[in-house]
Amino acid sequence: MLTAKETRESFKAFFASKGHQIVPSAPMVIKGDPTLMFTNAGMNQFKDIILGNVPIKYPRIADSQKCLRVSGKHNDLEEVGHDTYHHTMFEMLGNWSFGDYFKKEAINWAWEYLVDVLKLNPERLYATVFEGSAAEGLERDDEAAGYWEKFLPKDQILNGNKKDNFWEMGDTGPCGPCSEIHIDLRPDDERAAVSGAEMVNKDHPQVIEIWNLVFMQYNRKADGSLDPLPAKVIDTGMGFERLCMALQGKISNYDTDAFQPIIQEIAAKSGSVYGVDKQKDIAMRVIADHIRTIAFSITDGQLPSNAKAGYVIRRILRRAVRYGYTFLDRREAFMYGLLPVLIETMGDAYPELIAQKTLIEKVIKEEEESFLHTLETGIRLLDKKIADAKSAGESILNGVDAFTLYDTYGFPLDLTELILRENKMEVNLDEFNAEMQKQKERARNAAAIETGDWVIVKEGDSQFVGYDYFECDAEILRYRKIKQKNKELYQLVLDKTPFYAEMGGQVGDSGWLITGDEKIEIIDTKRENNLPVHLTARLPKDITASFTAKINEEKRLQCECNHTGTHLLHEALREVLGAHVEQKGSFVSPETLRFDFSHYQKVTDAEIREIEKRVGKKIRANYAIEEHRSMPINEAKELGAMALFGEKYGDEVRVVKYGSSIELCGGTHIPSTGMIGSLRIMAESSIAAGVRRIEAVTAERAEEYIFTLQDVLSELRSLMNNMPNVVQAVKKSIEENADMKNRLEQFVKEKTKLLKEELLARAENKNGILTVQYIGPGKPDMGKDIAFQLKGEVNDSFAFVGGFIEESKCTLMVMLSDDLVADGLNASQLVKDAAKHIQGGGGGQPHFATAGGKNIDGLTIAVNEIVGSLNK
Ligand code: ALA
Repeated sequence: MLTAKETRESFKAFFASKGHQIVPSAPMVIKGDPTLMFTNAGMNQFKDIILGNVPIKYPRIADSQKCLRVSGKHNDLEEVGHDTYHHTMFEMLGNWSFGDYFKKEAINWAWEYLVDVLKLNPERLYATVFEGSAAEGLERDDEAAGYWEKFLPKDQILNGNKKDNFWEMGDTGPCGPCSEIHIDLRPDDERAAVSGAEMVNKDHPQVIEIWNLVFMQYNRKADGSLDPLPAKVIDTGMGFERLCMALQGKISNYDTDAFQPIIQEIAAKSGSVYGVDKQKDIAMRVIADHIRTIAFSITDGQLPSNAKAGYVIRRILRRAVRYGYTFLDRREAFMYGLLPVLIETMGDAYPELIAQKTLIEKVIKEEEESFLHTLETGIRLLDKKIADAKSAGESILNGVDAFTLYDTYGFPLDLTELILRENKMEVNLDEFNAEMQKQKERARNAAAIETGDWVIVKEGDSQFVGYDYFECDAEILRYRKIKQKNKELYQLVLDKTPFYAEMGGQVGDSGWLITGDEKIEIIDTKRENNLPVHLTARLPKDITASFTAKINEEKRLQCECNHTGTHLLHEALREVLGAHVEQKGSFVSPETLRFDFSHYQKVTDAEIREIEKRVGKKIRANYAIEEHRSMPINEAKELGAMALFGEKYGDEVRVVKYGSSIELCGGTHIPSTGMIGSLRIMAESSIAAGVRRIEAVTAERAEEYIFTLQDVLSELRSLMNNMPNVVQAVKKSIEENADMKNRLEQFVKEKTKLLKEELLARAENKNGILTVQYIGPGKPDMGKDIAFQLKGEVNDSFAFVGGFIEESKCTLMVMLSDDLVADGLNASQLVKDAAKHIQGGGGGQPHFATAGGKNIDGLTIAVNEIVGSLNK
């Protein structure tokens, strides 16, 4: 019996023997493609070749690709764990032909591999072929059916509709009819009772698709029509985990050696046994599946976060934590502890797991802990809602609350429903769905870019000359209209361009397209399917004219200073902090640079200083750029080049070297490091567990930064009378201030005490009430202090009536002893009534109240009126 590992290798060996180049898996996280966040099929990394945007290097390729299907067109998330054969992350074994062989060989070799090499029983195999579509004007795929007939009886060849047998990667892009191979793994008696042919595509867990052979011959356009592809393509994808199940005689992917070690570890960690309790089994499968997804997305450069791809990963992680919490009783973070077993199972095929183990563990642990906390808060909130509803005699939780739990606390609807069911309650689903719809619309409006179809002006390839030139002659190859945030813009592709298209963290160039006296502004340049696409608000009058394409040189140079600056910073970070420092992301614009890297604690001030010093030295050494436009990747690695995480590299790479800094990089750079002038670090912070961020500026911006600091210093000096040691002077001044403040407080306290004693001595007994009265200068705070001191000291019935004058305002204040309040006197009412004399208003409590006003002349009348009205 082949193990999972042996199966993967046997596939590669088989297709290598048929003349295929074996290539590594591309990263699972996709950067720089607006239509796709994650690799969802083996063909993604070959999209540019299929569309004819880049030349075909190897006409035959095979590999094993890490895929993720959790968003967009192919989305299996909700089934995962509940059934035995869906996954978020899975491996896809695939073989490709780009304009080389087509249907016949693809079918022959698929058969040879499954039946002759792997010895699967042909009686259990079924092939489906596309039945045709009148709406699309497409006929049945008789050609494919004919090849299958060589191997299979007719009743094992089935017609399939457009949904199952016409494969499309997304709403637009390469597509074509396909032939799927299904396998029937049911026991013989069940097979005898109902034929497998009736079970294909019926969601039976043991009659499943294992391999899809796609015969790509069209490109789906935005208007829904189909264009023929430049060259026909074979694109196949076989579910690796399902194949392992078939070969290992199991009835669940999770029972194979690809998953069992992980599941057993989860069982051990949670004191459970797999295969006993249905809910616990689901939870263990969910966690075993999701830990792979999360770990690989981190190795490929996507940390959990609150936006886009990061949010998808965060939700998957939370789904796993939640299943652990609810069904396995896990109250503490535990998934991070599965890394060793994951490495045991997959580390040899994917060594990035080993290299980044510490980072993965840290990130997962922190995420788990923070979500467990949120989960508990959410459960408390839900408990309260349930109690409220019960006391109001209701048994339905409104959809808005359920949605808040979903959206803010990460509660999947089924968790809310589960808890409600235990309390004999349910959710108002219509309301919940309406909220969900509203949120989707909000998200769509925020992200939407509508694109029209390209209008071809001229056939041809686009060439980037921006490493060598800031301007060049250019013609427009094609253009299209797009709508972005309700603004109409145009995208242009040029035959030749000096404009750098945003990639690898460096922002795109802006500039102009000039012809005669017409000057069209290029706002930005992005990359799409490997083509530089220029963004402009208007089209030139004559689209077929010859132009001068010219970038904004000043901005480009500032950007280059920052980009080269990040390379020097990267090297200095590794020298000062250690070789564990790995780039985790970067952003380079004309204004600033940002560099994210793995490091497990705050970078100290002393380390920052040392890093800046080392970068400074490298700048002054004025290293000239050594650029190798196209070096074989192995040679580059031998040279010591630092490859970035999760980047897709071809066999030939660009190497950028300054002194001992050597990086694989496609960005633009300055001729020599001296041009940077200076690099200043402005901030250092944490952006995720184990990932730090440095923000810095170079060249003029660094100069401006220093000028600002110098200005602050000079101003401070002159404020401190130009004393030689300004720090000492400021310290002294702070100490003096504190001392002065103390003494002032003491003084006010004493003065208040004296005044209180004086007022008490002058107090009169009126109508059986000891009446303390004051009119004069003073802050209301002082008055309040006196009022409360009196209340604490005087045992008899007493009233304090004060009028305090402060510049042009005055405050009226009344304090009454408790017995007076009990007798019906009310301080608040008294000040309210008398406030009219000072043209003000106020109030307070029955025993203490104040009113502010601006008529100081009326203060005496007000005080007298209150005193006059006091009567026990
Ligand atoms: N691209 C095809 C699939 O994903 C092989 O099914």
